[in-house]
Amino acid sequence: MDLTPIHPKVTPIYQTSVFKFASLAELETYYTAPDHGGMYGYSRSEHPNSDELVTEVARLEGAAGGGVATGAGLAGLLAAVLAVCQAGDHVLCPAELYGGSVVLLSKELSRLGIETSYVPLADLYDVARHRRPNTKLVLAEVLSNPLLVVLDGPRLAQSCREQGILLLIDSSFTSPILTRPLDWGADMVWHSATKYLGGHSDLTAGVVVARDPEIGRHLRRIATNLGLMLAPLDSWLAVRGLKTLRLRMRQHSENALVVARFLAKHPAIAQVFYPGLETHPGHELAESQLLNGLYGGMLSLRLADDTMAAAERFIQQSQLFPLAPSLAGVASSCSYPTATSHRGLTEAQRRALGITPGVLRLSVGIEEPAELLADLAQALD
Ligand SMILES: Cc1ncc(COP(=O)(O)O)c(C=O)c1O
Repeated sequence: MDLTPIHPKVTPIYQTSVFKFASLAELETYYTAPDHGGMYGYSRSEHPNSDELVTEVARLEGAAGGGVATGAGLAGLLAAVLAVCQAGDHVLCPAELYGGSVVLLSKELSRLGIETSYVPLADLYDVARHRRPNTKLVLAEVLSNPLLVVLDGPRLAQSCREQGILLLIDSSFTSPILTRPLDWGADMVWHSATKYLGGHSDLTAGVVVARDPEIGRHLRRIATNLGLMLAPLDSWLAVRGLKTLRLRMRQHSENALVVARFLAKHPAIAQVFYPGLETHPGHELAESQLLNGLYGGMLSLRLADDTMAAAERFIQQSQLFPLAPSLAGVASSCSYPTATSHRGLTEAQRRALGITPGVLRLSVGIEEPAELLADLAQALD
């Protein structure tokens, strides 16, 4: 079937595992020409939908080296680490790192000879002190989970540069609308596209983009050789999500600020963690570093009755913040770190991190703000 005269406005979903070649000569060009001569061969290596996704994220992040789209955020982390590390290398991370990343690094990659160590984020900036001779990579998040500690990205990037160590930033909570870590001097940016990039809670995906084209090539090689590539339909869904990313991030952020201000005054709330609040310890840093005056849609709260029973009552009463252990969808949700991201820790370890039984994390969606406030008011009352 010849589709040349058809010009769809939206890229179709190339739901095919393989592409046809007209001749052996064309096949040869595919294998030998730079960028395969613009051709596609086998969807484990590349296909138009993931290319469209990566091209757009790279444009938003200012990533000249391109990158790769993977079947989940964590597969993106795997590709990023393997792109620059091998057995015998060491990765340095903040102790506040997302639990899934900790499991991948400390339980799986450690078995392949890549070691990881953790220091509190506040100490991480002294890379010279915490590095080992074999440290190749520092991994950090722009906003920590669940207490929204703000990273000083330019400071960390400078410390890494001075030590000749690469910096990978997880920007899943922020997206390129709120921050562009490559502008600070980071080497790679990683997104769980399951979160804001996709934005509709209907896919799992990852995207990693790099400043350096050579790292970009390694990312693609690893994704091909390990079978990490994101499928066409999910790539297409993520691209559709990107088309409204700017609008969504604005509304998520505006709503979260309204919700945070409301919660901060409510007698049933002991503490609100949101970088957009002037009382947040990282507010000034966030203000100087986050773009467009936006602080994102994630916030956490500590109930005045700091117990699991009170958290359960909130969960039962709220209609618009269902308990769903992910984030960043257009519809609001809530998560309970004690039983999800931090369930592997002892109660004492959680308390040391500030995660007490009355801490809930809200992912504020793009609903009408008055409806969110009304729901929270009735749930808290
Ligand atoms: C901050 C952060 N990074 C990475 C991930 C991993 O992404 P995925 O679940 O798409 O593998 C998550 C998942 O919750 C996350 O919260």
